[in-house]
Amino acid sequence: MPFAHITGWGMYVPEPVLTNDDIAKLVDTNDAWIRDRTGIRERHIARENDFPSTLAVEASIKALQVANLAPTELDLIICSTSSPEYIFPATACIIQDQIGATKAGAFDLLAACSGFIFATNMAAQAIRSGSIKNALVIGTETLSRFVDWKDRNTCILFGDGAGAFVLQASDKPGGVLSAVMHSDGSGANSLTLLGGGARHPATELTLHEGKHFVQMDGKEVFRFATRVMGRAAIEALELAGMTTNDVQWIIPHQANFRIIETAAKYLKMPLEKFIINVENYGNTSTASIPIATVEGVEKEKLKVGDKVVFVGFGAGLTWGAMVVEWTGPLPATKNVHPEQYRRFARFRSWIRRTLRFIEGIFFRREL
Ligand code: UT7
Repeated sequence: MPFAHITGWGMYVPEPVLTNDDIAKLVDTNDAWIRDRTGIRERHIARENDFPSTLAVEASIKALQVANLAPTELDLIICSTSSPEYIFPATACIIQDQIGATKAGAFDLLAACSGFIFATNMAAQAIRSGSIKNALVIGTETLSRFVDWKDRNTCILFGDGAGAFVLQASDKPGGVLSAVMHSDGSGANSLTLLGGGARHPATELTLHEGKHFVQMDGKEVFRFATRVMGRAAIEALELAGMTTNDVQWIIPHQANFRIIETAAKYLKMPLEKFIINVENYGNTSTASIPIATVEGVEKEKLKVGDKVVFVGFGAGLTWGAMVVEWTGPLPATKNVHPEQYRRFARFRSWIRRTLRFIEGIFFRREL
């Protein structure tokens, strides 16, 4: 059975930074309160021309560069997002077209902030089963588009960004060692975005009622998060036949510093073993774990051979954890330049649309 290794990683955040002081100009809040209750100092916010797909393309190209893998060699793309570009088509398909991953099947996965763990697990299982060799997993969000900038309960929390992993099959032991995924829909009302779906299609009334904004019972989500984070990490470790003593790094979902602190206490692990960057990015939902991972690598914390636990929670309710042996890129057999494929993407896309148009003319004639 092949092993599923994380061989590439990349992140991208839009340039504009929104500080706590900036938010204090919009709602009745202040920097001290936000820092004290959440640990957040600033977050990046999408510009007019930033979308989940454009952020994801930047992160994906970087991940493919690290893995030294051409987009055409990808078999599968899973995009985890709670702020998709459209209800359909899937954001994953837009990314697939823009990076030139012409062979890959692509779909979106929605498990909110736990989504990146769920998606990575799905890709790893597909590799472990032998049905595919190379996968791209993306977490991307522009939740700022769905935040009510008059609601101080939510607008202080979220930031935009994307992160991506390349997963590849190899006979060498390591990579994804175990994973657990959990859901409890009885808590669905705690964190929602109700408008625009089949139950509440967009109408003047849904707009008026603010149904197109994120709504959250912060205290309820906080309680749930502190209850499940530590437990999920232990569960995944047990599945891998390991304990917290075997672990070099915990990379948690970056929602709130106090939640991470509680998980550390539960696990009886020092905070130094946690990679934490919520201060600079806020809660980027499903993108937070890969963004923290990339920073962990860039700051030379994460090293080859390290055992890492990813752990997250989110709307749904969902939560999960994954144990990984960090192995880095596979030995290169050739030099590829993934960014070149993107350069031709528009042209290729145009050719494909034109061919479909011509095919349509002939098809109609045959009828
Ligand atoms: O990815 C998952 C996404 N969601 C989360 O992870 C959210 C989890 N929950 C949390 O992080 C916290 O519950 C919050 C940060 C959202 C809120 O912190 P809290 O300590 O639970 O505050 P609270 O809601 O209990 O509010 C305490 C007080 C209240 O005032 P009173 O009633 O005590 O007078 C609030 O009205 O703080 C007030 N408050 C604020 N004050 C200044 C609430 N939001 C703010 C604010 N600025 N932004």
